[in-house]
Amino acid sequence: MKGIVLAGGTGSRLWPMTRVSSKQLLPIYDKPMIYYPISTLLLANVREILIICTPQDLRSFQELLGDGSELGISLEYVTQSSPDGLAQAYILGEKFLNGESSLMVLGDNIFYGASVGRELTNNIPKSGGHIFTYIVDEPSRYGILEVDSSGRPIGIEEKPVEPSSNLAVTGLYFFDERASEFAKQAKPSSRGELEITSVISKYLLLGELTYTSLGRGTAWLDTGTPDSLLEAATYIAIIEKRTGLKIACLEEIAFSSGWMDESMLRRRITKLGHGAYARYLESLL
Ligand code: DAU
Repeated sequence: MKGIVLAGGTGSRLWPMTRVSSKQLLPIYDKPMIYYPISTLLLANVREILIICTPQDLRSFQELLGDGSELGISLEYVTQSSPDGLAQAYILGEKFLNGESSLMVLGDNIFYGASVGRELTNNIPKSGGHIFTYIVDEPSRYGILEVDSSGRPIGIEEKPVEPSSNLAVTGLYFFDERASEFAKQAKPSSRGELEITSVISKYLLLGELTYTSLGRGTAWLDTGTPDSLLEAATYIAIIEKRTGLKIACLEEIAFSSGWMDESMLRRRITKLGHGAYARYLESLL
């Protein structure tokens, strides 16, 4: 399975913070935001990843992350010249996907919890579409999944005025090899975007959509507004300080998965200087 991190967009709700820099490069406590969604893919054992970003941010992402070889993973890049919708990722990524299934994560979505890796690896099916829902207090801000009395998915709506449930569709999507074909069939919505809900609806209509409802033990954090950005950073800081363990430390995941050996980790430490992050990596040795 391949992975996609969608990290484009204008970040306009965060202006002026994101006027000249990508939202997904803003810090969430001690690391850039994009580390978190990349870690979600790595925890799902996905290490061939395409990063989609704006043409103006491409160099910064490449400088930060390179081709992934330092971590024992593979990172490729493609640019999205205007934010025409989440489903466009499957059109831009068609060549990279090369007929394979994929797990896509939005570059501003943070998942944290003891069981996240397990829930991903255990619940993702071999084919069809699979989404991850999370109970939220303000459903009209999200894509919402409608389910029948036995919990079967029966509808999906983007930011409904009158939500049919409080099951928000999180920014993590598994689709089989048909995703690019379905994305190409999507028509722009009233806001002019190729909505991800169009692709999800295709699988739903075919009866091939399943979902995992992420439980209370998992945190799904938003970073779309100044307040949610601050709250996410505070949340990460509290947990990291309390446990002494880092969340979304890419080197730690790669090292413990055996993708990075000791000498690779040492080279990485040298590159990262003498700050707290590098010291944490030293402690892994
Ligand atoms: O966070 C989960 C929600 O994400 C879902 O519940 C919704 O169904 C889904 O549409 C999406 O809603 P948002 O309103 O949060 O989407 P937004 O336009 O903010 O884009 C999410 C991320 O994707 C953001 O980091 C920017 C990036 N993006 C967005 C668009 C439209 C792109 O890279 N390219 C794009 O064309």
